[in-house]
Amino acid sequence: MEKCIVTPISYIYFVIRRIFQSITRYIKCVALALRLPGPEGAPIVGFIPKLRDNKFLEDLGTNASNYFGPIFRIWILFMPFVFIYEPEDLKAVLAHGRTSEKSFFYRIMHTFIGDGLITSNGEKWKRNRKFIQPYFQNNFLQNYYEIFSRCSLKLVQNVNNRRQVKVTELINDCVLGILHEAILGVPSGETKNSPFRKGELLLLKRILKPWLLLDGVFKCSGMSKREKKQQSALHQYVKRLLDQRLDDRKDNQINWNTCLLDYFIDLMETTDFTQEDLLNECVTFMLAGQDSVGATIAFCLYYLARNQSIQEKLFQEIDIVTRSNNSGKIDMDQVMRMPYLEQCIKETLRLAPSVPVISRVLTKDVALANYVLPAGLNIFISPFMTHRLPHIFPNPVVFDPDRFSEEGLKNIPSYAFIPFSAGSRNCIGYKFAYLEIKNIIAMLLQSHPESKFRCNVGVRT
Ligand code: HEM
Repeated sequence: MEKCIVTPISYIYFVIRRIFQSITRYIKCVALALRLPGPEGAPIVGFIPKLRDNKFLEDLGTNASNYFGPIFRIWILFMPFVFIYEPEDLKAVLAHGRTSEKSFFYRIMHTFIGDGLITSNGEKWKRNRKFIQPYFQNNFLQNYYEIFSRCSLKLVQNVNNRRQVKVTELINDCVLGILHEAILGVPSGETKNSPFRKGELLLLKRILKPWLLLDGVFKCSGMSKREKKQQSALHQYVKRLLDQRLDDRKDNQINWNTCLLDYFIDLMETTDFTQEDLLNECVTFMLAGQDSVGATIAFCLYYLARNQSIQEKLFQEIDIVTRSNNSGKIDMDQVMRMPYLEQCIKETLRLAPSVPVISRVLTKDVALANYVLPAGLNIFISPFMTHRLPHIFPNPVVFDPDRFSEEGLKNIPSYAFIPFSAGSRNCIGYKFAYLEIKNIIAMLLQSHPESKFRCNVGVRT
């Protein structure tokens, strides 16, 4: 009897406390935002119309520190968002997972990519990250490298069979083939009907039409139906592969642990990792490793095309290391001996990070050099902005791989180069990505008699 009375009272008390806490936090965030500089926004919708203006965004990303100093705010509807980009400030937020978590923008992505590593928070994220981390350590990279090598050889052949190529399409095809093999165990040549070829993230479209940020309104929209259809196609595809894999296992028809899906099946059989976790994580990894890698390779080729002397220097390095090869392939230890290649890739990721902005919500007050950011504040962290800070990267818009030479690295403080984010929620696939990108670019540029790509690099303006 006593319990029946106490429980609703404590529940009401809890709800009132939460509402009070949210209102206090909101007032503190608004009070801070009103003191901060920032770009002018439109009435009510604030910054949203500017998101359509690429020139404005590029200028803001390049000159933010000149315009506003180390920190600025924008408004989206009545919500303030604060951008931070100075390395010391980033360290305060990113170094310890205890001060922040993923913001509500990631919740919006749930309806498409599900509750995998990218979007999840708290204990669930911690458990799954711990499970999956070993699979992306050095000892597994050798297995992947064999897949990179085979797929990039096919890419080189495709490129050489044509006089002029739209290189982005061929690269995306190669990257997608690699992911299908490495994550799902599907041979790269059998991906023609894969739904992962057609995925479309609707997050930006929802932000541009802010009424769609309300879940209730979004659920009634055509966009939501399209997204549901996409999600169910991705999940059904992975589920079919899972069933097939389980059958093959019964019949002992496959090599164990040949792809991430196999590793997940092992986890499912030996831990509390569920089938739903498996589907969510497979979809997450398939989407996370696609455009991020494809765009970096395409941008790197673009910068090499625009900077012929740098391309020549890189070509010489690759030529010296691979001169004795006669298979057309490049070994893993050979790409490891190409420091200038790594510098070119890093400089590409500096100028054109394929994830230009990430977002967090603070779970505790965080003290920066000049401000205290209150708990509950939504923040944006932009690798694009940090990578263009002129006091760290002089002449920031110039493509100069020497910034990442042994000598140059001494001038780059920690948290100043963050294409893969940093801290406990950094990119789990970054070693995989570096190796894959190195292999593909080295394969394209090598001097093997079959490879004529170097001569063909050009920029259509
Ligand atoms: C050039 C290529 C890549 C770039 C620039 C990149 C960048 C990033 C960034 C910035 C994050 C943090 C996102 C955030 O905090 O919101 C991230 C997370 C993540 N990335 Fe990557 N990524 C790349 C390639 C890959 C690849 C190849 C994979 C897997 C095959 C991958 C899987 C993931 C996953 C699962 C996470 C979530 C990690 C976690 O929160 O525990 N990424 N990536």
